[in-house]
Amino acid sequence: MTVRITILCENSVGPLSGTLGEHGFSALIEPSGGDPLLFDTGQGLTLLHNARRMNKDLSLVKRVVISHGHYDHAGGLKPLLLECGAKQILAHPAVFQSRYRVKDTGECYPISIPASREELQALGATFDISKDFRAIAPGIFLTGEVPRVTDFETGDQGLYCDCAGQEPDITPDDQSLVVESDSGLVLVLGCCHAGVVNTVQHVATMTGRRDIYAVIGGTHLGFCSQEQLGKSIVELRKLGLKKLAASHCTGFAASARLSREMPKEFQTAQVGYSLEV
Ligand SMILES: [Fe+2]
Ligand SMILES: [Fe+2]
Repeated sequence: MTVRITILCENSVGPLSGTLGEHGFSALIEPSGGDPLLFDTGQGLTLLHNARRMNKDLSLVKRVVISHGHYDHAGGLKPLLLECGAKQILAHPAVFQSRYRVKDTGECYPISIPASREELQALGATFDISKDFRAIAPGIFLTGEVPRVTDFETGDQGLYCDCAGQEPDITPDDQSLVVESDSGLVLVLGCCHAGVVNTVQHVATMTGRRDIYAVIGGTHLGFCSQEQLGKSIVELRKLGLKKLAASHCTGFAASARLSREMPKEFQTAQVGYSLEV
């Protein structure tokens, strides 16, 4: 199967003029001979605008995967439903969990999905909820909940289920997309709170395959220590990836190091980036 993956929302824009950036992520998956699938929706500030600018008709998309229930991945659901009609939403049971970022100063910012399940259903959303690894289309899989097995991927500090910072949120709903292409597996990550190496390990366990051709999306490597980043790079190199198209929560500093240490593989997947495999 060949597939085209196009970044619709991301923190920064590429050379395609007239597109806009926002802190968020969304990718359109267009398999040859199959239905298009939307993976995440950004915050909702740029999805419809950028899709129009790229001549992508989101009314043709019937199914939307939400990688996890953060505003910068699921905030676009409401404007999408309002403008482009009913959609089936594939997500994890914890996707509507209340979430906050609590800073060391005690400042608290809500980061949950900014619309309730009922509100989205009233706009035509139907939910297909599961925490399992599953096939969702020919050659396309969702990882479901990713076991945290490595000892160095410690997760994000500062994420809580309450504003008082009492109950840490490990974002159990974080999941990624797996596409079987003719060149090997392509992993599309949202934020990858579960850890990119944990995610690769889970995919290998569930599919029996480690021939990963490309990893695209938010790696969350911008939120970890240099030591953790170094260990992740060692593991990524072992995979023999051809492309590491990092986005979103990878951030500038981690991207610079990835570019230096994996110069052949590293690319930035900004708005307008497209991969055809
Ligand atoms: Fe994110
Ligand atoms: Fe996130």
